[in-house]
Amino acid sequence: MAAHVLRAPASPAGARVLPAPPVRTGRAAGYDPRVSAGEPPQSAGKRREALKRVYAQAQACSRCPELASTRNSVVFGAGNADADLMFVGEAPGKSEDEQGVPFVGQAGKLLEKLLGEIGITRTDVFIANTLKCRPPGNRDPQPIELENCRDYLDSQLQLIRPKVVCTLGNFATKLLREDKTGITRLHGQAELRTIGPRVVRLYPIFHPAAALYTPRMLQTLREDFMRLPELLAMPEPEQPEQIEVPEPEIEQQPEPQDAGARSGGGSSGVPAGDGPAESEADQLGLF
Ligand code: URA
Repeated sequence: MAAHVLRAPASPAGARVLPAPPVRTGRAAGYDPRVSAGEPPQSAGKRREALKRVYAQAQACSRCPELASTRNSVVFGAGNADADLMFVGEAPGKSEDEQGVPFVGQAGKLLEKLLGEIGITRTDVFIANTLKCRPPGNRDPQPIELENCRDYLDSQLQLIRPKVVCTLGNFATKLLREDKTGITRLHGQAELRTIGPRVVRLYPIFHPAAALYTPRMLQTLREDFMRLPELLAMPEPEQPEQIEVPEPEIEQQPEPQDAGARSGGGSSGVPAGDGPAESEADQLGLF
């Protein structure tokens, strides 16, 4: 996937770029830094490092006592930390909970197949969910759980900076549109939405699980997938005006003992440079 195009020229050293108060059309409150590593840095490598810090925070999350006590894994998300295309599903299922990686079950296989048909692989995109923990028995996410988990998703959106956010099914679509309109009415229609401080092309489509056993829905999902290359080829949406403020001191994390040997993107699809040890990348599900 192409590198992200920044609207403004590169910031001078010692400066970071913050959004000016924008006119918002979607989620109004903006970036909740509760779980973030601070204001998102600009370079892909630094954003990836910040994503790893959010990942580490999510691993220890106990905001939803029932989910925290029944989960095997926190399924943070997986893929290219600098992806132009991000999928947002509902919540991990049994296989995802066992493996710690989203969309590895039947629905995931279908997702991969449909991606393959448009020449995209999992390693090109980032895949996340509205909830990072499996609801017991695959029950629906509860409103309080969606709220508890929301800022992990916001941080992911902010740090990965996708151009296109593809919501899979009702839960992700309603959450990110902040509207009750269902997927049957909305699927296949891209719209510009402001999520936190960023404008993205939001593209709701049916959840692959819903298409597994219904040929007509599968056909619709396939047709909606076919439009993704066209959306990805569009220019990045105009972003709210940026203002520059001095870069804060960033606390350095101590180097793990064995971090040096295998670091960097390589063939992983992950930005190289100040990348993590590969073992950390494996945990993140970054390829
Ligand atoms: N369904 C989802 O919504 N997410 C997953 O990760 C798997 C199945």
